[in-house]
Amino acid sequence: MIFKTIIEPFRIKTVEPIRHTNRAEREEAIRKAGYNLFLLKAEDVLIDLLTDSGTGAMSAKQWSGMMQGDESYAGARSFYRFESAVRNITGFKHIIPTHQGRAAERILFGNALKPGQIVPNNTHFDTTRANVEYRQAQALDLRTAEGKQPHVIHPFKGNINLDELEQMLEQNLGNVPMVMITVTNNSGGGQPVSMENIRSAHALCRQYDIPLFLDACRFAENAWFIKMREKGYADKTPLEIAQEMFSYADGATMSAKKDGMANIGGFLALNDDDLASRCKNMLILSEGFPTYGGLAGYDLEAIAVGLEEVVNEDYLRYRIRTVEYLGERLTQAGIPIVRPPGGHAIYIDALSMLPHIPQSEYPAWALSLALYLVGGVRSVEIGSMMFGQQPDGTEKPAEMELVRLAFPRRVYTQSHIDYLAEVLLHLNEIKETIRGVRLVESPPVLRHFTARLEPAHGQLIDS
Ligand code: F0G
Repeated sequence: MIFKTIIEPFRIKTVEPIRHTNRAEREEAIRKAGYNLFLLKAEDVLIDLLTDSGTGAMSAKQWSGMMQGDESYAGARSFYRFESAVRNITGFKHIIPTHQGRAAERILFGNALKPGQIVPNNTHFDTTRANVEYRQAQALDLRTAEGKQPHVIHPFKGNINLDELEQMLEQNLGNVPMVMITVTNNSGGGQPVSMENIRSAHALCRQYDIPLFLDACRFAENAWFIKMREKGYADKTPLEIAQEMFSYADGATMSAKKDGMANIGGFLALNDDDLASRCKNMLILSEGFPTYGGLAGYDLEAIAVGLEEVVNEDYLRYRIRTVEYLGERLTQAGIPIVRPPGGHAIYIDALSMLPHIPQSEYPAWALSLALYLVGGVRSVEIGSMMFGQQPDGTEKPAEMELVRLAFPRRVYTQSHIDYLAEVLLHLNEIKETIRGVRLVESPPVLRHFTARLEPAHGQLIDS
C-alpha cells in the first residue's frame, strides 16, 4: 500500500440526522437532568460517546439477516446459526443466549458464587462488580502496576496481576469459585490483555483447579492489539487469535452490544455440563427458553453476522486507528489521557487535568458536564461517582478519575472526530474555570445511572 490514510471501510446507506443545540439550551437540558448525563434526552446530544454498547450501525448483511429471523419459540433456525457463530470463535460446549451481558453475569454468578467468596478479575466492569456483590461475594480487582498509571506506556496495560493472583489463590484456597479476565479491560482504560497473560492465568487456574472465565465483550479489539503488539501473532488472523484466547478459558460472558456488532444481545458460554444445566434452568425462569434467551430470532441472526464482521481486518484497523488518532491530537495538545489509547475509547485523566477540583467534588463528572455544555458531546465518568460508593454505604475515592469517550462502531466519521478534538482543545484552554459538583440525591446501588447533582460552586464553568 502506498497510501497511508486509513479510511472507514464502508459507505453509508442510511443516515440519521443529529441536532445542534445552543449553549443556553444545553444549560437548561443539563439542569433538568439533575446534572447527570444519563438523564439527558439523547436528542439534546450532538455527538453521543456515552457508550459503545448497542449503539453501533449494523451492516446491510445484518439487516438482511434479520429478515431471515426464525421466531419459533423452541429450536429456531436462528438459534443454531447463532450457536455456530459463537462456537466457531469460542469453542465452548454450551452456548446460552441472554438479552445482554449483565444477564449472563447474573445467571453465571447466581449459580456459581456463594456469599463470602472472592472473584478476582483484572478489573470488574460496574455491572459485573454489582452482580458479584449482589451475591454477597467480593469483587477483587488485580491490576498491574503499569495498569494503574495513566501515563505509563505499556503494550498490555489491561493484564491481570499474576503475582497478586497467585498470592490470593494461595491464601484463599476453596474460597475462589472462578477467576475472570475482562478483554479489553474497560474500566482500566480499554486496555488490552496479552495472550501470554491469559495463558499464564490459565496455568495458575489449572494448578488451583479453578475455572477461568473471560468477560469477552471486546474480544476482537483485544485480538487486534495482540496481532499488532505481541510477538508471534503478526501473521495470525484476528479470528485465530480470538480462538486461542478462548481456548485458555472454561467459559465466557459476553455483551453482543459491543463486539457482537448488534444493538442488543449477549451470551454465556461454558464447558461445564452441570453448571450449564443449572444456568439454563435459571435462564428459563427469567429470560426465556434456552434457544432464544430473551432475544428475538432476528436478534440472534444480527449477532451471528456481527460476529463474522467484527474480526474483519479492515474493520479492526479502522476501528483502532480512529481512537488512536483522537488520542494523538489530545496528547499533542497536552491533554492527559490514558496512554496508549485503548480499543473502544479515549479516557481523559481528569485528576491530572483538573488538579484544582478535589475528588470529593467528582472532577471527572465535572469535566464530562463541561464537555456537554461546551460542545454538546456526551461522555461518561469512570471515577468516584461510578466506583466510590462502597457496599456498606461509605464513600471511598476511586483510584482514577477518568472521562471516557466511547466510540459507537461504524457510526461517526473522521470529521466528527475532528470536531471533538477541537472542542476538547478549547476545554483544555479554559480548564481552570471548570468547577466541581456535589450529590443531591443518590440511589443505594449503581448510583451514577440515576443520581442527581448540582454545581458545588454555583456554576459548572465560571463565566
Ligand atoms: N462487561 C464489560 C467489560 C462491559 O463493558 C459491559 C458493558 C458489560 C460487561 C455488561 O454488558 O451492558 O450488555 O449488560 N458495558 C457498557 C459500557 C454498558 O458502556 O461500557 P451489558
